[in-house]
Amino acid sequence: MIKYVSRIFINNLLDKVDIVKLIINRIKLKKKGKNFFGICPFHIEKNPSFVVNSEKQLYHCFGCGAHGNIIDFIMNYENLSFLKSIELLSNIFNIPIKNEKKLCFLKKKIKNNIYYQLMFNLSFFYKNYLFKSLGKEALKYLLNRGFSLYIIEYFSIGFSPLYWANKKFHNKKNTEILHKKLKILKLNKNNHNYYDIFYDRIIFPIKDIRGFIVGFGGRVFNNREPKYLNSSENNIFYKSNELYGLFEIKKENNILKKIMVVEGYIDVITLFQFNIKYAVAILGTAITNFHIQKLFNFTNKIIYCFDGDEAGIEAQWNSLKKSLPFLIKGKQICFMILPKGEDPDSLIRKEGKNLFEKRIHNNLSFSKFFFKRLFLKNLFSSCEEKTNFIYKALSFIKLIPDNFFQINLIQKLGEKIGILNFLDVYNLLNNKKKIIINNNFKRTTIRRLLSLLIQNPKLIKLVPKFKYFKNSNINGLFFLIKFVNYYKNQHITTAKILEQYRGTKLNKIIKILITWNHMIPDHQIKTFFIYLIKKLKINILEDRQDYLISLDRKQGLNNEKKRELWSLNKILIQKKSNLKI
Ligand code: UTP
Ligand code: MN
Repeated sequence: MIKYVSRIFINNLLDKVDIVKLIINRIKLKKKGKNFFGICPFHIEKNPSFVVNSEKQLYHCFGCGAHGNIIDFIMNYENLSFLKSIELLSNIFNIPIKNEKKLCFLKKKIKNNIYYQLMFNLSFFYKNYLFKSLGKEALKYLLNRGFSLYIIEYFSIGFSPLYWANKKFHNKKNTEILHKKLKILKLNKNNHNYYDIFYDRIIFPIKDIRGFIVGFGGRVFNNREPKYLNSSENNIFYKSNELYGLFEIKKENNILKKIMVVEGYIDVITLFQFNIKYAVAILGTAITNFHIQKLFNFTNKIIYCFDGDEAGIEAQWNSLKKSLPFLIKGKQICFMILPKGEDPDSLIRKEGKNLFEKRIHNNLSFSKFFFKRLFLKNLFSSCEEKTNFIYKALSFIKLIPDNFFQINLIQKLGEKIGILNFLDVYNLLNNKKKIIINNNFKRTTIRRLLSLLIQNPKLIKLVPKFKYFKNSNINGLFFLIKFVNYYKNQHITTAKILEQYRGTKLNKIIKILITWNHMIPDHQIKTFFIYLIKKLKINILEDRQDYLISLDRKQGLNNEKKRELWSLNKILIQKKSNLKI
C-alpha cells in the first residue's frame, strides 16, 4: 500500500481523469445539457437524481446528498480508503505515481499479484478435481445436499485431493509462497513432503470485493474434525475485512436494498440458489467494524440472521452493539431470529422460499430487539435496579449518531419504564443543545463570494486587492483573502479545491458552499460576482466607518482620522448609489 502521495500528484490526477469517463463505466448516465444524469449508486431510488458535472468535475445526488470528486466517488463506490482509491485511479488511467515510496509499493504490488495468481490457479485446480474420479465422493455429497451444478460452478466450489502437493506446483518458488506466505501447504516433519492443509475437503474460495480469490474454506464430507478449516490470515487475506458472498451479490444487484448477514458459507450458497441473492457470511468470527462499514457502503439495511440458539442470540446482541455508531440517518439494522436448531440453509430447504422470505419480512426491528433483550437481562423492581437499567439503556442509545432515532428511543425507554415525559427530563438533566440544522448556515456576502469562487474558480481574477481589511471585523474576510492569495496564480478547479480541504475542519463548510444554488443563469454569474465584490467593499468601508464613529465617541478623532471619516462618508454615498446588478 502506498503511504503517501504528493499534492502535486493528486492535482495531476484530478487534471487528467475525467469524472464522466470514470463514472459512465460504472453507472448508466444520460446527457442533459451540460450535465449527465443517472440512478444514484449510493441510495435506493427510481428516478435519476444523480448528476455528474464535467465542468466542475464533481458528482452530486439531489436525493441523498452524496457529493464529491473522482476520489470521493471511488472511495465510496469501491469502498476503499483514500490512498487505495488514488492507487486504483492511477492504475485504471495509467498515471504512474512517481516517487521512491511508489517504487516500494510497486514491488509489493507485484508480489501481491503473484499471490492472487497462485490463489486463482489453485482454485482452478480444486475446481477441476471436483469433477475427477478422486472428487466423486465430494461431488456426491454436494449434490445430495441439494446444490445444483450451476451453483457449484457459480461459487467456484472445488475439492482438494490427497497427496497432490508434491506433484503439482513443482516450481520451488510457488511451493515456497504457498507454504510460507499463503500458509496452504505444510511440511510433513517425517518425510519432508508438503501437504495441503485442506486435503480431502470440499473447497469454498473466498473472494474479495474485486473478485480476487484471497482465501479458502474447506469442509469435510465425513465425520472428521474439525468440520471447517479456514485459510489463516496472510498478505492478502484478513478475516475481519472479508465477507463471503459479497462479490457475488454485488455482481447480481445494481442496488442492494438490504443485505443479510448469516453464519455459514453453505447458508449463503443455499440462499443464493433459492434466489435470495443478498446474503453474505462472516468467516467464523464475530462481526467487525470493518464489516459493518463495508456493508453500509452498499446498502441502507443490514439484517442480522444467526442461528436461533443461545450463542446465536448472543451474536445478534454483539452485532447490535457493534453497529450502534454506524446508525446515521437512513441506515438501519434489524434481526431475524430462527427457530432453535435451524440455520438458513436447513430452514429454507424445509419451508421454501416464500415462507422464508416472510420471515425476513417479519424481522425484529432494532428497537424491538433492543428492548426485548434489555428487559430479559435486567430486573427493575426496586428504585436502584430501575436506575441502573436506565443508565445501561442510555449508555447504548448515546452511541447512535442519528439524533432523531436517539430521541425516539429515549422516549420509548420512558414509556417502558413508566416515566411519560422522560425525554423532557432527560434533556433537562443533560442540558442538551437543540439540534442545529445545517440550513441555518446564513448566506452572507462573503460566503456567497466564496461559494461562487469555489464553483467557478475562474472568477478569482476578478477579485481586487482589498486595502481596507486590516482592521476589519467582518467574519470570514481574512479567510477569503488568504484563499484568493493562495489560489490566484494556480490552475484550479472545484474538484481540486475540495481535495485541498479533505480531512480539515473547513471540509464541511466547503462542501456546503459547493452545493449552494445561487439561482442565477450562467451568463450572469460574472455580473453577480462583481456586484457582490462591490457590496463587500461597501461592507468593509462601513465597518471602518463604524469603527471611526465609535472611536470618536470614546476618545475623539485626530485631524487625519477626521478627514478619513469625512471622505469615507462621501465615498459610501457614491458607492451605494452606484450599486446595482
Ligand atoms: P456451522 O457449524 O453452523 O456450519 O458453522 P454450517 O455453515 O451450518 O455448515 P453445514 O450446514 O454444517 O455444512 C458456521 C460457520 O462457522 C465457521 C465456518 O465459517 C462456517 O461456515 N466454522 C464452523 C469454522 O470456521 N470451523 C468449524 O469447525 C465450524
Ligand atoms: Mn448448516
